[in-house]
Amino acid sequence: MKTTDFIYTLLPDALLPWYRQNARDLPWRQDTEPYHVWLSEIMLQQTRVEAVKPYYGRFIQNVPDIQALAEMEEDKLVKLWEGLGYYNRVRNLQKAAKAIVKEHEGKMPSEYESLLELPGIGSYTAGAIASIAYGKAVPAVDGNVLRVLSRLRMDGEDILSQKTKTRVEKELREVIPANRPGDFNQALMELGAMVCLPNGEPK
Ligand code: ADE
Repeated sequence: MKTTDFIYTLLPDALLPWYRQNARDLPWRQDTEPYHVWLSEIMLQQTRVEAVKPYYGRFIQNVPDIQALAEMEEDKLVKLWEGLGYYNRVRNLQKAAKAIVKEHEGKMPSEYESLLELPGIGSYTAGAIASIAYGKAVPAVDGNVLRVLSRLRMDGEDILSQKTKTRVEKELREVIPANRPGDFNQALMELGAMVCLPNGEPK
């Protein structure tokens, strides 16, 4: 067996118990409602966890579900996003909500491929929603996850290249535990956020 395969095989048993003990208690980990998972993952793109916390709860209070998101005036949505930056995220959120109402009877699709077709949802977000909210065994690979795996594999590959990302997604697909895909993906994110930090000594 190649070293890389061996590392991948060990990942679920190494990560899941660690995550159970060390997962931060974050507002979006209180439930796995698909709209909530989606909103949190969009807010967390390019934005720190601490900065997202107050926005997440306030947004849900004002915009409780996908139907409300589709119907709200854009100005009000942008106001709720004010300070988070990257305002295209909230505009795409509403475009996607309208598409969900029109094409999926207001219910967030559960299939990875259907999620990918929605505005603002790329492979990472589709994987996060499908695994965390719907329990599908698909990967959710962002920059943090790529860094974690690059260090484990120590193969010096360029983690910014699409080729590396595609390969890591393919390799992870083969080891994601079918019974806990959402926890597995979040454990990889958590390791990248808490231990395996960019530019630094490991904690
Ligand atoms: N960053 C991106 N997604 C996250 C999540 N679900 N929990 C914590 N940090 C994240």
